[in-house]
Amino acid sequence: MSDNKISENTVAENVTGASIMLEEVTKTYPGQKKSAVGGLTLEIPAGSIVMFVGPSGCGKTTTLKMINRLIEPSSGKIVIDGEDVTGMNGDELRRRIGYVIQAGGLFPHMTVATNIGMVPKMLGWSKEKIAARVDELLELVSLDPELYRDRFPKELSGGQQQRVGVARALAADPPVLLMDEPFGAVDPITRQRLQDELLNIQTEVQKTIVCVTHDFDEAVKLGDWIAIFNEGAQLEQYDSPERILANPASEFVENFIGSGAGLKQLSLSRVNEVELEEALTTTPGKNASEVLSQLQGAGRKYAVVLDSRGRPLRRMDRRQLSRAQIIEGTYDENMPVVGEQATLNDALDTMLVSSSESALVTGRRDVLTGIITVQTVMEAIAAANNSADAEHEAPVGLNSGAINVVDIDSSAAAQGGESA
Ligand SMILES: Nc1ncnc2c1ncn2[C@@H]1O[C@H](COP(=O)(O)OP(=O)(O)O)[C@@H](O)[C@H]1O
Ligand SMILES: [Mg+2]
Repeated sequence: MSDNKISENTVAENVTGASIMLEEVTKTYPGQKKSAVGGLTLEIPAGSIVMFVGPSGCGKTTTLKMINRLIEPSSGKIVIDGEDVTGMNGDELRRRIGYVIQAGGLFPHMTVATNIGMVPKMLGWSKEKIAARVDELLELVSLDPELYRDRFPKELSGGQQQRVGVARALAADPPVLLMDEPFGAVDPITRQRLQDELLNIQTEVQKTIVCVTHDFDEAVKLGDWIAIFNEGAQLEQYDSPERILANPASEFVENFIGSGAGLKQLSLSRVNEVELEEALTTTPGKNASEVLSQLQGAGRKYAVVLDSRGRPLRRMDRRQLSRAQIIEGTYDENMPVVGEQATLNDALDTMLVSSSESALVTGRRDVLTGIITVQTVMEAIAAANNSADAEHEAPVGLNSGAINVVDIDSSAAAQGGESA
């Protein structure tokens, strides 16, 4: 189905991420009777995105922070890339693991460049190497280095701060990225863009990403695998989004998915999986009547004005073209645009919000790649193959001492959808 699904058996060549294994990990906070995390065994395949979801207080953050030992486990083992890191120096470990929190967690008195360069500096990189890396990362998260490297966090929007937070976490090229509700503090449109951005970045860097969210739709959109936790980090289900939606393991999971599971299937298909229409493009300064006749010849509704880097500035329809002398180069912030990693659900939303029957699609670095229409989305829904992905076995996940203890060898098969 979607091609970013990676199983533990088929690790793509360019994966730089590391596998993570939690082995019977328990955390009991001092003075608490119940464990915040109880006997959790969880396999996180290299190069995949694993989403942790579950009700507030169920132990998601505790589990995440035990991976980089911001929280020390009471018992159990954490193995990264085959190495037991449970006893290693915590500071050293954390330099090998990127960590992203809400609003980026940036230091307010440091510039963007200083924030991003922090870990490389601690690692003793040269000034030149750090400066080059900062610019490279700003490009990666779609922020123009010239404009942003010397700004302070308060001079950035929430979404931009979050992007800098991701850049900082990636600075020393760590194999593992931990994210705790990273997009919780931004508005829905910005959140959608940041999610798309993360997926774009992931296709380039192929890290192992563990991400906590309270938003099930976000888990479906971003996750190769979703772990649904109940209180005490008891795993209710650990599987692909497709299979969780098709076969919720329990009433708890059903309730968690909520109503509209059918519509959520729309979140499984991405814009880059459907056929896009080619856009008729032009550039500022061109003769408007020439563009109008091209448009009429091609039977199109509008032309897309691109800047010198191929990024859309605005759309101009026949009426606007017939009134103009030359093509305008001003940026229209209300034009409907979706990233190619956006889900069909996101695309529909964007079109509805702008009362438009189509939206522009952009890829890496915001370059225009085509046009998606309501018609295309409708056809994709109709043609949707709802059969759950049967190709890849789910990674191992269970709690020791749970009522239905399964042994590790058979648990993957049991969760793998082979049972009727
Ligand atoms: N430092 C702490 N001391 C004592 N109890 C804690 C501490 N941190 C978290 N807890 C408790 O552990 C449980 C799990 O918390 P947490 O991992 O933050 O959950 P989540 O991230 O899923 O909301 C909760 O009951 C919480 O109250
Ligand atoms: Mg939390």
